[in-house]
Amino acid sequence: MGRKRKSREEQTEATPASSSKQPKTNEGEEASSQSQSNQPRNNFEPYPASKVYRLIEPGPVLLVSTGSLADSTHNLMTIGFHMVMQHESPPLIGISLGPWDASFATLKKQRECVLAVPSVEMAGVVVDIGNCSADDDEVAEAGGKWQRFGLEALPAAKVKAPLVGGGDIIANIECVIEDTKMVSKYSMWVLKPVKAWINPNKKPGEGGKMFHHRGDGTFVVDGEILDLKDRMVKWQEYQD
Ligand SMILES: Cc1cc2nc3c(=O)[nH]c(=O)nc-3n(C[C@H](O)[C@H](O)[C@H](O)COP(=O)(O)O)c2cc1C
Repeated sequence: MGRKRKSREEQTEATPASSSKQPKTNEGEEASSQSQSNQPRNNFEPYPASKVYRLIEPGPVLLVSTGSLADSTHNLMTIGFHMVMQHESPPLIGISLGPWDASFATLKKQRECVLAVPSVEMAGVVVDIGNCSADDDEVAEAGGKWQRFGLEALPAAKVKAPLVGGGDIIANIECVIEDTKMVSKYSMWVLKPVKAWINPNKKPGEGGKMFHHRGDGTFVVDGEILDLKDRMVKWQEYQD
């Protein structure tokens, strides 16, 4: 969830041009072409480009654990913006994690983290984790977010940041940073998973339901599974 402010153009993008003043000739042409570009196209009406993330918001919502369990500097935050970038050789995941997060500096320094996949039963807590910062006084006074939310930190195998424990966590993915080229421009970190853990009682589709942020504080929960494996004739190497 990047917190960049909307530009003025984006804010007005889907609003038909209107003005109480008599427009000058050029302005009139612009206004007319603007209103033309906002005319519905059959069953489609304009939608602000600045909000398209709500249409294609990826999921599931994840927790990012950073810092070190050994020296009790571990922290936790919530993300909704991420993507699979490569299946293998090596597997790669892109996450958007910005400098407005205290976790940013830790990730930059430590170059590793854990991505935990929470199930829907934890949705409220996951939102609360993303609505406070390790830098907040009340979080620090509570002894950090792990203590504040009563979360269990388990030692990871290959990174210093802890796994998130508990029966409502579907999986934990230990990651190291593969590439930081897009961080200064897009807050986009390319991570390489080096070890993963699954909760056998909460496998996706077998009891574990992930939830997906729609970008505006509403969420979609995993639902019906559509099995089209037989039609995926070109991509069978990606089926078990
Ligand atoms: C549902 C939800 C999704 C979020 N998605 C992101 C995200 O994709 N990237 C990001 O940098 N922050 C995201 N945030 C905000 C961070 O979780 C928030 O800034 C948090 O306070 C950071 O914690 P920290 O300062 O202790 O690192 C999200 C928050 C919520 C509640």
